Amino acid sequence: QGQPVETDVLIIGAGPAGASLASFLASYGVKGIIVSRDSTSAETPRAHITNMATFETFRDIGLEDILRNISTPIDETDHLLRWCLSMSGRELARRFTLQTTPQRTGEYKIASPCEHMDLPQTRLEPELVRYATLNGFQVRWDTEFRTMEQGDSKVTVDLFDKVTQQVFSVSAKYVFGADGAGSRVMRHLQVPMEGFPATQWAVNVFLKADLSHLMKSRPAVLSWVLQPHRDHADFNMICVVRMVKQWDEWVFSFLPTPGAREEMLSKEQYLEEIQQVIGDDTPVEITHMSRWRINEAYAAHFSVGRVFCLGDAVHRHPPAMGLGSNTSVQDAYNLAWKVAYVLQNKASPGLLDSYSLERQPVGKHMVTRTNEALRRHVPIFEILGLVSPSVPERLEALSLLSANTKTGEQRRTEFQAAADASVETELNGLGIEFNQDYSNSPVICADTSDSAPAKPALEGNPDPVRFHTRTTIPGWRLPHVWLNKSVPEKEISTIDVAGKGKFTLFTGIGGDVWKEAAAKLSADLNVPIRAVSIGYDQDYEDLYGDWARIRGVESSGAVLVRPDNFVAWRHGKAEGDEIWATDKLGLVMRKAL
Ligand code: FDA
Repeated sequence: QGQPVETDVLIIGAGPAGASLASFLASYGVKGIIVSRDSTSAETPRAHITNMATFETFRDIGLEDILRNISTPIDETDHLLRWCLSMSGRELARRFTLQTTPQRTGEYKIASPCEHMDLPQTRLEPELVRYATLNGFQVRWDTEFRTMEQGDSKVTVDLFDKVTQQVFSVSAKYVFGADGAGSRVMRHLQVPMEGFPATQWAVNVFLKADLSHLMKSRPAVLSWVLQPHRDHADFNMICVVRMVKQWDEWVFSFLPTPGAREEMLSKEQYLEEIQQVIGDDTPVEITHMSRWRINEAYAAHFSVGRVFCLGDAVHRHPPAMGLGSNTSVQDAYNLAWKVAYVLQNKASPGLLDSYSLERQPVGKHMVTRTNEALRRHVPIFEILGLVSPSVPERLEALSLLSANTKTGEQRRTEFQAAADASVETELNGLGIEFNQDYSNSPVICADTSDSAPAKPALEGNPDPVRFHTRTTIPGWRLPHVWLNKSVPEKEISTIDVAGKGKFTLFTGIGGDVWKEAAAKLSADLNVPIRAVSIGYDQDYEDLYGDWARIRGVESSGAVLVRPDNFVAWRHGKAEGDEIWATDKLGLVMRKAL
């Protein structure tokens, strides 16, 4: 073991969290090392649904088009979720999901210039690693984190090289634990995990089977296959079938009966089960099998000294709502600009404390809600009688769905309502995807817009998990609005005007003093602050009138946006000259940094 290798940042883990952090940092010109104990990126496509908020982060660094090209657009499939008795058999209910839900398409269009995409982790991770390594990062596969020691200005990390079978050390200014649900970094830091111990486990079987003859008329990406007629010691008659590639690659998730012995069955036994779930004799080739736990745990805090953890290392939950990889990428996006600004002496190291304060509540909420979404399936199982241990009783309960009786009518109504509740919370959670609230963060400044007195951002939102609140209240995500130019030019989103590593101050007619203040402070603080004016004959025009409706300040007011497109502060109107504006903005910028 020689001298430690010196670097600014060391990222442990090359999954969605670690690889996206490396990419975001690289976009700032930060250089570093990323290590993974595996020999390659994800072998199995666990995460798929990549939401609009996550696509906005990739758009910011110019990766959106590349990633769209390797995704399946959601519209292409109509994206059904359904409940059925087998893949080829009777269907009990179908629901549209995400932006394909006719009643909700407009909400999705309004929320973002991006779209949800079906982007398997197996395709996402290599692109992120490629971007990071082309832009200043070095990657070491087969390299396992062992232990670390924190000093005043450095962290020394021992890594085990699985090729040479040697331990070597890296000395980094900052270290990031992105090493997934079994995080050794978190164990080393002894950060308490809160929530509930995992009691349920599941088996994922990845397979190839050409089911196009079944899916043409039933283009479901997710099928809950319920088999009340079957009696099995190890399974609870429920299998979740997820499309990986239309329509010949799949993952079948088997949920064992509570208390069933916690070991995998043989490949032959799974093949037999799969054939039952499909319901015909389509040839099946199993490519991979793995076991995973249904977790409900989140870290009490996400950082210790110079070590910051992100992704599944700090929030562990079931795949319901498809938020895991998305939240991991957004952790990274929150962290990257702060780390870059601190390393480049644009901000004080104290800024990094805001990472845990802003993201821990997001992670905790996500863990709680994804488990809640999973539990929303239980009423469906109860209504269909699946909870009974007796096959005849289960079949009788199922037969009520077609019974011409009062009880039958009631059963049908309950079942459809339970299906609605399940899809609306599990897959149509536009609100939880967008409504992150950092307003309690110490680097977010109080709303000083007297024209819009502070009221809770969520007032009037009937269900913040389902519905998106678009607001410029400090601590909230900058709303997407299409802006225009006075010359013929493609319209541009507010989120494209902002971002790209800089602070952006939005003002309008009468707000010239903010522009002068931003230019002066940019030079004084060595921080990029771009001021743009929106309105007739300004930098951008607001031909749809949407910005005027949503900005929450007067035309001469100011909305200051951080590099991660969250609002840092807003002020109602220009009330003095450029010295007044510079004082005002200066105080806010110093707090934000
Ligand atoms: P992840 O586990 O992906 O990566 C960990 C990395 O750390 C790996 O590179 C590993 O090699 C490395 N590592 C581990 N220990 C190490 C050590 N000691 N030393 C060095 N390296 C080490 N999410 C979503 O957003 N949409 C979705 O549709 C779905 N669907 C879905 C389905 C199923 C069945 C599952 C099980 C999960 C999902 N998810 C999801 C969740 C998603 O897969 C998960 O949240 C992300 O993979 C988490 O990314 P991380 O990078 O945090 O960990």
